[in-house]
Amino acid sequence: MDLTHRPRRLRQDRVRDLVSETSLEPADLIAPVFVDATTDERTPIESMPGHDRVPIDGIVARVEEVLETGVEAVMLFGIPESKDAEGTRAWAEDGVVQEALRRVTSETDAYVITDVCLCEYTDHGHCGPLEEELGSEAVVEGGPACEPTMTVDNDATLDALERIAVSHARAGADMVAPSGMMDGMVGTIRSALDEAGFEHVPIMSYAAKYESAFYGPFRDAADGAPSFGNRRHYQMDPANSREAMREVRLDAEQGADVMMVKPALPYLDIVASVRREFDHPVAAYNVSGEYAMLHAAAEKGWLDLEAAATESLLSIKRAGADLILTYFAEDIAERL
Ligand code: PBG
Repeated sequence: MDLTHRPRRLRQDRVRDLVSETSLEPADLIAPVFVDATTDERTPIESMPGHDRVPIDGIVARVEEVLETGVEAVMLFGIPESKDAEGTRAWAEDGVVQEALRRVTSETDAYVITDVCLCEYTDHGHCGPLEEELGSEAVVEGGPACEPTMTVDNDATLDALERIAVSHARAGADMVAPSGMMDGMVGTIRSALDEAGFEHVPIMSYAAKYESAFYGPFRDAADGAPSFGNRRHYQMDPANSREAMREVRLDAEQGADVMMVKPALPYLDIVASVRREFDHPVAAYNVSGEYAMLHAAAEKGWLDLEAAATESLLSIKRAGADLILTYFAEDIAERL
């Protein structure tokens, strides 16, 4: 047997780091944080161990905890004090995210990205105002009468997204991240930001966001579960990958600065394709379900949490992500 080729030579302790192809840096991680206008107390999120909803008064302290670990960027999500059919609290000048932004940006050095969406602000929990789906009232002759299907009104939602993005920029957001998967959202927000004098504020688009079962814990955390139906009319079908390239291309044409794929681990093929086909920085969102399942297994003693989390994040990097949004950000950064 010819054993000229022995890959194991480079796996010896003193050389493995020299030849390692991928590494994790705190500077690549973004920590999601939740600010809650309905409470005066910090409340643990049961399905996301180690994460809390914090009151507006506590948000600066929360962000400082993140910064102490070496992570420099946060993604801010808000839970408003009240909801309505249109989600009007999402763009209120004194809204929860706007208040939090003013404090965090004046009192800390964090780079603050905001989630621009309506699902936490509408009373029905969908990502925009509703309309009857065209054609859905049609009844098959002789068949049972059926209720019209309600769906999110794309173009009405765009108006709201503009207002939200501009209100976040005014309150100090460093970057905005539209997550509603509405057609045309990036272009609309880009023009609105430019007109309002925020040409320098980048957009990170949730470009390929799938209708995923892995968002469950987040919907508890942010109180944004749809009260009926699901999000399959606007988020992507997990069966599709070419469609993700189409979504990313459209967002590129509309001026998105960073392309996000979400979730991360079940969609590493999409992360790799976006990396190959586009020159934009690629972000991947290691979502709440990906976090919760490792915690649940570790709690049972079935796997080593730190090792499994590190391996997950490294895999996301290896697939091609430049940035990772993850609930593990602080824990991992502290160990790097
Ligand atoms: C929507 C939004 C969601 C997440 C981030 N932004 C929820 C959804 O689409 O239902 C999920 C993040 C996670 O699961 O960690 N504004």
